Amino acid sequence: MSDLLIHGGTVVLPDGERVADVAVEGGKIHAISAPGQTFSPGAFSRAVDAAGLVVLPGAIDAHVHFRVPGGEHKEDWDTGSMAALAGGVTTVLDMPNTDPPTTTLAALEDKRARIAPRARVNWGLYMGATKDNLAEVKQARNIAGLKIYMGSSTGGLLVYEDGPLASIFGGYSGRICVHAEDEQIIRDNSLKFSGATDVTVHGRIRTVTSAKRATERAIALARRFARPVHICHMSTAEELELVRAARHDGITCEVTPHHLVLNEDGLADLGTLGKMNPPLRGKHDNEALWGGLADGVIDFVATDHAPHTLKEKMGGYWEAPSGVPGVQHMLPLLLNGVHYGRLTLTQVAQVTATGPAERFGIQNKGRIAPGHDADLVLAAMGDARLVRVKDVVSKCGWTPYEGMDLYGWPEVTVLGGQVVYERGRFPKVTRGREVMFG
Ligand code: NCD
Ligand code: ZN
Ligand code: ZN
Ligand code: ZN
Repeated sequence: MSDLLIHGGTVVLPDGERVADVAVEGGKIHAISAPGQTFSPGAFSRAVDAAGLVVLPGAIDAHVHFRVPGGEHKEDWDTGSMAALAGGVTTVLDMPNTDPPTTTLAALEDKRARIAPRARVNWGLYMGATKDNLAEVKQARNIAGLKIYMGSSTGGLLVYEDGPLASIFGGYSGRICVHAEDEQIIRDNSLKFSGATDVTVHGRIRTVTSAKRATERAIALARRFARPVHICHMSTAEELELVRAARHDGITCEVTPHHLVLNEDGLADLGTLGKMNPPLRGKHDNEALWGGLADGVIDFVATDHAPHTLKEKMGGYWEAPSGVPGVQHMLPLLLNGVHYGRLTLTQVAQVTATGPAERFGIQNKGRIAPGHDADLVLAAMGDARLVRVKDVVSKCGWTPYEGMDLYGWPEVTVLGGQVVYERGRFPKVTRGREVMFG
């Protein structure tokens, strides 16, 4: 008997959307056929009626901070990966700013050993750049890329001087991912505004110019050394234009859900919960970034899921750490964008699954096609539902999207052919696998 039949859903396929049956065997997509034509539900050990639902490739979130090791009071791989599954995310790539940071081969292997027995989603890891760890990074096998913090953020990773940056870009031929904010501008403005107490100063310290300048610098280094460089969490219309002009040089970029749907007008309500790096910007930036997704200049959406406890976030402006959770709400926020005509379902599949799979060369993922891994999400588009704190799965226990009324929610999540999330419950615990980067 074959594993699983998902029948009668609107399936988002590489060549468009149509009502179809999806048969799964041995954890892989076996066949896709016209509804009711080829497969009978009785021939499968499990059949899911997807009538009225859309069937998308499981989302790949290429930027999460699951906080292991060292930040387990904020998140761990049980809570982080359950939050992911509830949000239709079946693969995550974890950032290196843990404690200790993932800057050595020993730290990388230690992290793998901790994650493998706990992850309920598929996963991959970045290494972080320091001024002197290039030799070790070059020996690492199967990493998502090398993360460079050109401006300081949560954790101690930072490389911003010309010499060390040139050595890294010159010496590393793999994918380089940058946190692009200008350290000098941040430092100067922090002094200038040191008396400020309100979170609205965040965007005046970490200015649009600081993001723009660091992005320009990263693009210049990419060109000089002919490297594939990826700009993380791009927040402004200005950076979008820089990337648009540099795409033929292999520059790629991502946007977060919070930079799409939140802006500085909401900071009065959010307070320090709305503090993250780079900061929330203006409404015109939201509009420009949605446009960049629709026209393909932005390669994918990644959440920058950066949980901190409420207690930590409730400190004053200077004490509150930067970062917001997001892995559970990326798909609802984007599907809500479909409801309001900002994107098509095919574009959502592109920016949440196909795009990241292609950019990172993740094998057998990111599309609903025979032979691909059966990582899928079934979502309901019909009724609006409120984002409620009591539904938050992340250990941090809060969300900046509380109270938003969204159309488009994951109902069922399938990982490797197993139904692992179903309408608020986690019926089966399966282990995710480390992905293979091509
Ligand atoms: C991230 C974190 O908390 O780890 N914070 C954030 O504000 N984005 C770090 C980062 O991605 O810069
Ligand atoms: Zn960052
Ligand atoms: Zn602007
Ligand atoms: Zn991040």
